[in-house]
Amino acid sequence: MDNGVRARFRLCVAIGYVSTMSNPLDVFRDGALAGHVAVITGGGTGICKGIAAAYARFGCDVCITSRKQDVLDATAAELKAATGKDVLAVAADVRDPDAVVRVVEAARARFGKVDTLVNGAAGNFLAPAVALSPNAFKTVVEIDLIGSFHAVRAVFPSLRDAGDGLIINITATLHYHGTPLQLHASAAKAGVDAMTRNLAVEWGGAGVRVVSIAPGPIGDTEGMRRLAPGDAAKKAKQAVPLGRFGEVDEIAAAAVYLRSAAAAYITGAVLVVDGGNSVMGAMMSLT
Ligand code: HXC
Ligand code: NAP
Repeated sequence: MDNGVRARFRLCVAIGYVSTMSNPLDVFRDGALAGHVAVITGGGTGICKGIAAAYARFGCDVCITSRKQDVLDATAAELKAATGKDVLAVAADVRDPDAVVRVVEAARARFGKVDTLVNGAAGNFLAPAVALSPNAFKTVVEIDLIGSFHAVRAVFPSLRDAGDGLIINITATLHYHGTPLQLHASAAKAGVDAMTRNLAVEWGGAGVRVVSIAPGPIGDTEGMRRLAPGDAAKKAKQAVPLGRFGEVDEIAAAAVYLRSAAAAYITGAVLVVDGGNSVMGAMMSLT
């Protein structure tokens, strides 16, 4: 493809997108998630704040957790103003299994049950494998993978008791190919996707569905600020067939769908929401 054709192609994609753009959450009806109670790790910021906001908007009771109480309190106040729902904010480091148990206990005490977990807490940075110290690699695996294990372990009895339990693990597409500077996060997220499949098999009989959402590059998030700063963002968009970064509400819409009755037969699946980024062939960059 020469540069002129490529530019016209991208313009058509952009015009098509703008002409059909509306908030993806508007397709769901009010009260669609009423009666559910969700614990959302990493829910104070970014993608998981978007999921918390959408869940509250559609009637789900929500408990958000991460390390910083002040950030959680500010988000809870913002969601209360936007949705009228009281959002519970409990600080915990997901690397501490007892702290995660306390979060689930607090949510259960406040709302009477917990039937949904969104595992979104994560840490990441760009680093060549050769520059990763043992503690750097361990830190990301401990937050993303072992932290997710702590959360599923803490929440399972509540999900089983509540019935219609759901775990959504927020993963990524990094590990589908060899992604430079991302050994630590790729290894961690691959492990989380493995956990999704194993737990779907083990816990299906207990009425618990387990799924992953694998976002591609999502705009205006800490993840993309760290992984594609400055000019790198422009290049990253060129690797997305839809020609743009995703929006937080597009991940939130996937999370609302998976919690809804429309997804009752879905378990063990990884829902990729990436504008086609992960199926783009390497040869595309040569054309
Ligand atoms: C190399 C680094 C590093 C870097 C930290 N380390 N940053 N190594 N390059 N840029 C090393 C440190 O030197 C240390 O090793 C070890 O990692 C632990 O660092 P701490 O700062 O002590 O850890 P901690 O305070 O626990 O903070 C964790 C963190 C931090 C991951 C390092 O960045 C954080 O809190 N992140 C949370 C927010 C976040 O990352 N959001 C983005 C998620 S996006 P030594 O050996 O010196 O002790 C995401 C996107 C996925 O996940 C896919 C997108 C496409
Ligand atoms: P983010 O805003 O930085 O979200 C990460 C959250 O995790 C923060 O709220 C952070 O809060 C929390 N956290 C970090 N370490 C923690 C710990 N040890 N214990 C408890 N909470 C911890 O980043 P984001 O970009 O929105 O990413 C959200 C999720 O989407 C992550 O799972 C990420 O891997 C995934 N993802 C993002 C993208 C993207 O394009 N952004 C793409 C693919 C996948 P505290 O600092 O307060 O603890």
